[in-house]
Amino acid sequence: MSQLASYIPTIQQDPSAPEFVANPYPFYAKLRSLGNFVFWKDYNMIMATTHSVVDQVMKHRSLGRAVPDVLQTPVGAHLDAFAEIEAHSLLELEPPTHSRLRRETLKGFEGTRIAMIAPTVSQLADRLIDDFPEGEFDLIEAYAKPLAVLTIGEFLGIAPEDAMQVQTLSGRIVAMYQARRDAEIEADANDAAKEIMHFMRRELDKRRTRKTDDFLSQLLELHESGGLSEPELLSLAILLINAGHEATAHALGNAISLLADHPGRIEAIAPEFIAGTVEESLRYRPPLHMFTRYVYENCEIEGTAFKKNGQIGCLLASANRDDAVWPDGEIFDPFRPRRRHVSFGAGIHSCAGAALARLELQIAIPVLFARCPDLTITEPPNVADLYHFHGFDRINVAVK
Ligand code: HEM
Repeated sequence: MSQLASYIPTIQQDPSAPEFVANPYPFYAKLRSLGNFVFWKDYNMIMATTHSVVDQVMKHRSLGRAVPDVLQTPVGAHLDAFAEIEAHSLLELEPPTHSRLRRETLKGFEGTRIAMIAPTVSQLADRLIDDFPEGEFDLIEAYAKPLAVLTIGEFLGIAPEDAMQVQTLSGRIVAMYQARRDAEIEADANDAAKEIMHFMRRELDKRRTRKTDDFLSQLLELHESGGLSEPELLSLAILLINAGHEATAHALGNAISLLADHPGRIEAIAPEFIAGTVEESLRYRPPLHMFTRYVYENCEIEGTAFKKNGQIGCLLASANRDDAVWPDGEIFDPFRPRRRHVSFGAGIHSCAGAALARLELQIAIPVLFARCPDLTITEPPNVADLYHFHGFDRINVAVK
């Protein structure tokens, strides 16, 4: 990498090694002990390791998510649909286009609109618990995933059975962001991208003739009044359904696994503590571990120089265990004083759906443990075979 300075320590770790994926935290602690920035050889990239520099990188105005022109590589025809969605995605754009799209998106996530969905989330949680199978079962499939998918479906106005189908397409698309992406994964992600575009076009078409009060109708109105282009509309709708469930389902599974046999659980999920407990579980076991930034202008952060067109990784999960911000950061303590973690990012790309995600977690966790006080995890949960999305793909439980 062009910006590699000799004094930045180099470290090697296969990001897809199962023992690393299962518990990357000792590695992160080692990185932080080496400095604010380290060069992770396997990624060929400098990584920000501490809370201070992760926060600075994410907020820095000389850095951004959009790929600089000189680094753009032609996308093969085999990835045409995937590239089409990405090209207009809020997440992959910078100002001024990003500012316009973000402003409009956030209108949907205003406090009142989010608060209005709270009763639906409670009902959904109750209904899913009513349907829990007898004996041992997987809590991710029976609770975390459907709760997250059906909530964002409800928010956008997508029927429950369709939302559940879209979720499988979304899983195939986000497979593109994992460390071990290959030709097969790419082909499958592109097929899924085509299907999801087709599905979303149909949903939007239904609303062209009959608007409802859902968020997709609101986005369509915005398009019709000139606020969003057709590709932007499609891409935003797809981003919301994808981003709107994947991380939340993992975050819910992660929180439940931390609380299931925690001695302070009853107090931690009480109304006065649940918000803090959710923040602590997001800090301690965040569902997303790494995001990257491109360098648009030469700059310096905490004495480390970065050259234009380089790339920096932000290790969110490492930043969240930084002892300088959280003394005894390696301990899960729902009652610790709250400090701002970076699980939702920071700066202009920080999570647009954070309020919705928090609401879901603050409802779904207490409802689950109130209805199933004897819930027991029956075997060590299985960490999903992905590094960036960090959560369990199975949590086997019994609820008596
Ligand atoms: C616990 C659950 C969630 C976590 C941990 C999470 C985390 C994040 C993070 C870290 C980013 C920033 C990425 C970057 O800076 O490069 C982000 C962006 C985003 N998230 Fe979330 N997210 C969650 C749930 C949601 C939900 C429920 C929605 C939508 C309904 C959502 C929609 C978005 C969108 C649209 C962006 C892009 C924002 C932009 O580029 O301006 N997320 N999320």
